[in-house]
Amino acid sequence: MTSQQIRQQFIDFFKDKKHTFVPSASVVPLDDPTLLFTNAGMNQFKDVFLGKGQRSYSRAVNSQKCIRVSGKHNDLEEVGHDTYHHTFFEMLGNWSFGDYYKEEAIRWAWELLTGVWKLPKEKLYATVHDSDDEALEIWSRVTDINPKHILKFGDKDNFWEMGATGPCGPCSEIHIDRGPEFDDPATAGKSFVNSGSPRYIELWNLVFIQYFRDESGTLHALPNKHVDTGAGFERLVSVLQNTKSNYLTDVFSPVIDLIGEMCGTPFAQSGEQAAYNVIADHLRMLSFSIADGGLPSNEGRGYVMRRILRRAARYGRKLNFREPFIYKLVDRLADVMGEAYPELRSRQAHIERVIQSEEEHFNRTLDRGLEIFDKIHQDLKMKNELIIPGAEVFKLYDTYGFPVDLTRVLADEHGLNLDMTGFDEEMEIQRERARAAAHFAAADLRESDWTILNEGHHSKFVGYDELAIETHIMRYHQQGNQLQLVLRETPFYAESGGQLGDKGSISGEGFELQINDTRKDGDRYLHLAEIDGVFSPMSDKVVAEVTESTRRATAKNHTATHLLQAALRRVLGSHIAQAGSLVAHDRLRFDFSHFERISNEQLTEIERLINQKIQENITLHIAQEKFIEAKSRGAMALFGEKYGDVVRTIQIADYSLELCGGTHVRSTGEIGLFLITEETSVAAGVRRIEAITGPVAVQQTQKMQTQIKSLAQELNTPAENLLEKVQQLQEQKKQLEKDLLKLASARILSDLDSLLASAEPVNGVLVITKTWPDISTDQLKELGDSIRAKAKNTAALLISETEGKLNLVCALTDDLIKERGLKAGDLVKAAAQAGGGSGGGRPHLATAGAKEAGKLNEVFQAFKNQF
Ligand code: ALA
Repeated sequence: MTSQQIRQQFIDFFKDKKHTFVPSASVVPLDDPTLLFTNAGMNQFKDVFLGKGQRSYSRAVNSQKCIRVSGKHNDLEEVGHDTYHHTFFEMLGNWSFGDYYKEEAIRWAWELLTGVWKLPKEKLYATVHDSDDEALEIWSRVTDINPKHILKFGDKDNFWEMGATGPCGPCSEIHIDRGPEFDDPATAGKSFVNSGSPRYIELWNLVFIQYFRDESGTLHALPNKHVDTGAGFERLVSVLQNTKSNYLTDVFSPVIDLIGEMCGTPFAQSGEQAAYNVIADHLRMLSFSIADGGLPSNEGRGYVMRRILRRAARYGRKLNFREPFIYKLVDRLADVMGEAYPELRSRQAHIERVIQSEEEHFNRTLDRGLEIFDKIHQDLKMKNELIIPGAEVFKLYDTYGFPVDLTRVLADEHGLNLDMTGFDEEMEIQRERARAAAHFAAADLRESDWTILNEGHHSKFVGYDELAIETHIMRYHQQGNQLQLVLRETPFYAESGGQLGDKGSISGEGFELQINDTRKDGDRYLHLAEIDGVFSPMSDKVVAEVTESTRRATAKNHTATHLLQAALRRVLGSHIAQAGSLVAHDRLRFDFSHFERISNEQLTEIERLINQKIQENITLHIAQEKFIEAKSRGAMALFGEKYGDVVRTIQIADYSLELCGGTHVRSTGEIGLFLITEETSVAAGVRRIEAITGPVAVQQTQKMQTQIKSLAQELNTPAENLLEKVQQLQEQKKQLEKDLLKLASARILSDLDSLLASAEPVNGVLVITKTWPDISTDQLKELGDSIRAKAKNTAALLISETEGKLNLVCALTDDLIKERGLKAGDLVKAAAQAGGGSGGGRPHLATAGAKEAGKLNEVFQAFKNQF
């Protein structure tokens, strides 16, 4: 049975049981800043569990792309060294949203494992929470599991939580005993369920979600009970394909084989098998997170990605990969997984480029690390110390991506030791930071925090058609002067898909609130206002009104963003994918994957195309249709966006088709004018275009026109000749500067005779000292040469004073060099030292610089003192 078939059988099994198949959510949850990476199948249903969102189905099945790299659910250092931990994995799951509960969940899991996949019943174990007699009873009643194989465990093993806060509940896990040959030699004979041995592994976790844990750690019962299950796909495949390790299944082996070909040693013959595993594992994490819009960087998710890439590259060195190589594996990965996850194929070139440039960057970093090591070594030598401080080892590791084992090898070579205790302390601080970052910010309010005026809380958005309505307050929450209101229906658009939330007013008996922003929390729309005093409305009846001017201006920018994406794909190519966007009333911003700077010609072409579409005044076609149908018509969807069965599509003739919930103009002509204001780079492989439309663009155009007109007047030339005129002026300026220089030299040289006459004898040498403001060192040297040509027995110190600094030139006539053994280099050096500087050069002509122009007299004196 192939892994493809196993995945499909799981999905089909639950589809037969009336579950709706829901595609995997993005592994980079761009819409949830509290979550680094999607870490469980249930993430995309969090709002349903919390009673804040609804779906059109009450049973779901999917296979979810998950990443666990730190925090609660994983320890990175183990990945690759054991047989069954991964940074990226697929989680197969089935869900009930207030529908079936423990009994069906347990019965169906057993049926699939033992009935369909025929796993030996005597090898299976079920665990339940020690308070959950109900689950224990169900296991013995609805399955034929050996009753001795139903085991009770405490919170640590059988209470599942999404994070520090969030939905949670007791769980029941199914484990399999893979037999004594899987025993870790260290614990052979002593392993059992939940002992952490590779012999007994967890196959499936059935979570009975019934609580919400708040920030203070308190559990609150949820209004409904739900089922959330998760089966680790890779270990399931390993069991069903009967392989010793997940890495030996067909999920990984094609990639591992390629690594073997590339490094010249097949996996089976290598003494560094962990390196193959690490690379194959990390390749998946990187490819999927990049495909879903993530990018390596110095913070947050991007930093995790960077560390994972470096870990893979470091292990690559163990296999003698010195040049970038990970990116060459992406194609093979797409062979294995591209059918289930087509984004790997469609974004393959982008994934490869990001990985390759990051690998190149790392190789340079590694070289820099070597330099830093040398410096540390030198410092220790000077101090006569032999131990590299933990903080330095950590800095090498963390900042320069320098593996500790490599630092140790180098240290050994130089007879040094590492302070590993100090290193571990730094590491622990770092882990704390990562843990803190992985936690949910938990903006979620508890039910009891709200003042509830009407039951039910699912706001109905009516703002596509209406901007002002009469409606009712459902609930509100005030903290200080911050007020959040939920309405029964609302015309206010809540921030999403890059479009900012509407502003406006909500007024009722005795109050009028200015709404500054509208946000979504699940299906709930939160209208945000600032108020003085305590909000306590007499009645729940209100009039809610969106500010029309900003809404209209925002709509222009939103439709223009769609035109922009379509134009980019036509002018730059179909690799363009949205990486982020902002649609405000006064501007728009669009980030997208692209590797080069966009030329001025391309920008002009993009702008021209968009304005052409605006002039064609195309009527937008907005429709509700099935997600599958919209996708098959080629509709563009956003990364990280959750889509229901039925989606809203925005079509602009055959030019643009996008899934989008935003507000738009009726026809493109309303946009009026589109103007690109900036093109910049945001990260490796991501460019940003900023633009304006409508009256703002007209205003900007007029401003530029006025500037051009004034310029033309000022330069006394027709506007179309401006460029030529400016170029001419610049040429003239250059020429004048040259002339000026020549003149200055001539003037200085014309002084030559008086300069020679000014020489004063010092112990038999004629000494000339003089300063000029702002002349170049070259001019001073020229003057020095002239003195040498004309004079005898003469030493000159010529100084230019520029911006508080001194430039010194010393010239000596040849007789002084020959007969008295003087050297211009030495003389100028000593002189410069008196002004806080230094310098040197040849015996006849030398230069120096000094910082302290105020010490000019000391400098001259120091010069004379040498004769
Ligand atoms: N949400 C549960 C888990 O991740 C099923 O294990």
